[in-house]
Amino acid sequence: MDDIIQINNLTFRYEPEGRKVLNDVSFEVKSGEWLAIIGPNGSGKSTLAKMINGLLVPEAGTIKVNDRILSEETVWQIRQSVGMVFQNPDNQFVGATVEDDVAFGLENSGVPRQEMIERVNEALEIVNMQDFKDREPSKLSGGQKQRVAVASVYALRPEVIILDEATAMLDPKGRREVIEVIDHLRDIYNLTVISITHDIEEATRADRILVLQEGNIKQIAEPETVFGIGEGLIRMGLDLPFAQKVLSYLQAEGITVPQDYLTEEELIQWLSQSYLTM
Ligand SMILES: Nc1ncnc2c1ncn2[C@@H]1O[C@H](COP(=O)(O)OP(=O)(O)OP(=O)(O)O)[C@@H](O)[C@H]1O
Ligand SMILES: [Mg+2]
Repeated sequence: MDDIIQINNLTFRYEPEGRKVLNDVSFEVKSGEWLAIIGPNGSGKSTLAKMINGLLVPEAGTIKVNDRILSEETVWQIRQSVGMVFQNPDNQFVGATVEDDVAFGLENSGVPRQEMIERVNEALEIVNMQDFKDREPSKLSGGQKQRVAVASVYALRPEVIILDEATAMLDPKGRREVIEVIDHLRDIYNLTVISITHDIEEATRADRILVLQEGNIKQIAEPETVFGIGEGLIRMGLDLPFAQKVLSYLQAEGITVPQDYLTEEELIQWLSQSYLTM
């Protein structure tokens, strides 16, 4: 697979004499990959996301999107291929209705009217919000708002979508709906996803997880490997996976448990097998 994003030796601070919020960070994201970024509060996750979108400029290092170096000259082009959804659903609406909101970005990029109507309808259908197109965005539920935000980004067909804690303010049902919409988008076209999250379920969906700590990459690996650090995940800003919690509890009771990472299904299987042999 080709790398769609290449980050090389990225360093950033907010104040010239301040501390390095990102310190010599290098990694790549493959085209079509889902990369989750986790890490404690203040570890630099949002800063990194803003840099990829050209909202902040590095002190040192480079960001390449599709082999093109992000600079003042390329930032507008790159922003067309990298869409962002932020945490607070209320801060990202510009339209008076759901439909207007999704149309806004298309209008700005000069898409002809007929095509615009088609793309708005398609985007709203994909996030299952077509029945709400005449509604006022402020009157929707949190999950509905974030689905509209995703539709607005999708309508512009970015190659990459960055979700900066886009599910953090939602209840479990809203979270699941947003994640499912993202999964669905990946089924219909080769979308690359970078999701910054404290939510274990969201991180589990990723192909790889990047663990950021005080502006340094602590680990970048598949979820199974990262979840193997068990209790350490809590310090990394994540809740422990349910299966891991059950195993830690059993181990504390003196029961010998598998040391590998187990999914919930594997846990059930292991529990039923151990029960038979007890
Ligand atoms: N505009 C700013 N000016 C100065 N310092 C900032 C600014 N924004 C963030 N910081 C600092 O930079 C560091 C990294 O912040 P960042 O928002 O990237 O963290 P984060 O990993 O996204 O945290 P969280 O999980 O809380 O969202 C923190 O120490 C933060 O206080
Ligand atoms: Mg953040």
